Amino acid sequence: MVHYDSIERSFTREEGMKKIWIIVLFVVIAVFGSLFAEGTYTYDDFESSEICASCHESIYRQYDRSMMSQTFTHIWDEVEYYELALPHARKLPKVAEVEAGCNGCHAPVAFLTGDIPPKKPAEESRANDSLSCDLCHTITGFKGEVPFNFNFVVEPGETKYGTRKGGESTYHEIAVTPFLHTAEFCGTCHNEKDPYGIWVKSTHLEWKESPQGKAGVLCQDCHMTPARSASVTAGAVYDDVRQHLFHGAHDTGKLEGAAEILLYADAKKVKPGKTLTLEAFVLNAKAGHSIPSGSAEERLVWLHVEAKDARGNTYHLPVDPKGFPGEELLIADPEAYAYQDIGDIKGIDNFKGIKRDGDVPAGDRIFRLPYLDPDGRMTIAQWHTASLGVDYRLKPLEARRETFTWKVPKDLPEGDVTIHAEVFYSRLVPSVARYMKIPEEEYAPVSMNADKIVLPVVSK
Ligand code: HEC
Ligand code: HEC
Ligand code: HEC
Ligand code: HEC
Ligand code: HEC
Repeated sequence: MVHYDSIERSFTREEGMKKIWIIVLFVVIAVFGSLFAEGTYTYDDFESSEICASCHESIYRQYDRSMMSQTFTHIWDEVEYYELALPHARKLPKVAEVEAGCNGCHAPVAFLTGDIPPKKPAEESRANDSLSCDLCHTITGFKGEVPFNFNFVVEPGETKYGTRKGGESTYHEIAVTPFLHTAEFCGTCHNEKDPYGIWVKSTHLEWKESPQGKAGVLCQDCHMTPARSASVTAGAVYDDVRQHLFHGAHDTGKLEGAAEILLYADAKKVKPGKTLTLEAFVLNAKAGHSIPSGSAEERLVWLHVEAKDARGNTYHLPVDPKGFPGEELLIADPEAYAYQDIGDIKGIDNFKGIKRDGDVPAGDRIFRLPYLDPDGRMTIAQWHTASLGVDYRLKPLEARRETFTWKVPKDLPEGDVTIHAEVFYSRLVPSVARYMKIPEEEYAPVSMNADKIVLPVVSK
């Protein structure tokens, strides 16, 4: 366990007793090992976020809009757990641990109380608390050297842990822990190793290597940006209250502009019958980790380039392959099928799979990290990932250059040609989403950015 020596708290007698009990508890956990890590608590040991809402109103409203309040109840999370991961865990011993494990991050209170599998969201059990205020605010550190797979240490009770000194509340005790102001805190859930030992989520590890991470710009600085406000309704106003935005890929505004794009051609004029070479420069300008990060197995980020002539005819320009091994998974192919392990889970014989690249037009460049199952087929079942393909995502502050060679038609009409390049983001591969009956708003493409150039057509 990592010790945060500067945890400050004022002890009442009651608190002292509680500390002794916590020590006793740790000894018990140490003796029985991680076997007993789940099931140590009851739901009554954790408060619901609605209780916090009565005083921390605006923080609650922000949180309520974010994915953090829906880590268990959100539709795709529910479907993936109950229809894919849970049946798979019961079928394939190698992945049996995810029956409980998924909940370590998505329904942490259910996990800690041993309520596995939790009741489905429609039954409105306390598992629906998702990632609650109380869970985050009773975390005091993490076990081991690297934060991953919910290895946080939680000390539920009267004391709520924060980062600001001097606050007082009649409702709860306040203790200061610097841990909440570290990226490792986020990393306890935003890094994940699957049963095959593969890093299937590594947002914190990516951040650590990023220019932003090296400059000390924390996850909190971009996702919990401070603003002048009060953290309690009608309470003291501070210049830097941490806003609980947690806006990420599910926030269209956060996606828009996160990638930048610039397009240029090797000539100032388009000549019918000749070749025009275009280059697109794509930059992850705003995220302190790869785009996509986290659930990279199910996201699609791609670059689409097309030309339009004066009469409105469009010409789709496929990317020029760079020719490295594994690139075939990074260029859209509407004939390619993948995700056959969904058929294994559902017990469908000779399941041919689902279209690998959703609706991405043939030949478009895909910025992705392919997740491969033990048979080498692409999978969205991150828990069933035995190896990874080439990591061709957009790395933080690292540009990618893609070229497009256009054999300009001989009969291209006179006038201007407009060449348009656009980067799109789909939160879920649309073909998989449709197969699993997930509503369209979960996978509809979002435009991250676009650029265009206009060139005159000259016959000589
Ligand atoms: C009866 C009102 C009330 C309720 C209910 C309440 N709090 Fe508080 N809380 C306060 C007050 C007052 C402060 C001190 C604010 C200040 O420093 O200005 C505070 C401070 C905090 C802090 C410390 C913030 C810091 O400055 O670092 C945390 C963390 C916190 N509360 C979490 C919670 C959580 C989690 C819940 C629900 C389980 C909760 N609170 C419920 C009134 C309340
Ligand atoms: C994913 C974990 C997480 C969740 C969920 C969460 N918080 Fe926080 N909260 C934090 C972290 C981290 C900080 C401190 C950030 C920092 O200082 O860098 C914080 C800060 C605060 C503060 C102090 C703000 C300030 O700057 O004075 C209060 C009060 C608070 N949280 C209350 C709540 C309440 C109430 C909820 C639920 C509505 C909630 N938190 C949900 C992680 C969380
Ligand atoms: C206890 C586990 C846990 C901790 C700690 C945690 N997260 Fe999360 N976070 C999750 C889970 C689970 C989701 C996925 C929600 C979903 O889509 O189901 C999530 C989602 C998010 C999202 C939304 C992504 C999207 O697609 O829109 C952001 C942003 C985020 N977290 C940032 C943070 C930051 C910043 C911290 C640290 C201050 C943090 N998280 C700490 C578990 C955690
Ligand atoms: C410099 C600002 C910045 C920093 C630092 C940063 N993020 Fe992000 N994050 C973004 C932006 C912008 C996006 C939207 C683009 C995207 O979804 O990839 C994003 C997206 C996300 C997503 C959704 C990713 C996806 O594609 O599904 C998660 C989860 C997330 N961040 C968590 C974190 C965590 C955890 C950390 C720290 C380890 C962190 N972020 C650090 C800016 C930042
Ligand atoms: C170590 C913590 C952790 C574990 C374990 C974990 N997840 Fe997640 N999960 C996350 C985080 C964090 C995100 C958000 C990442 C992002 O937005 O890119 C997420 C995102 C997701 C999403 C995407 C939600 C959306 O709408 O985009 C699904 C679905 C999901 N998880 C299901 C599962 C299932 C099923 C399991 C078990 C096999 C599991 N998770 C295990 C932390 C975890």
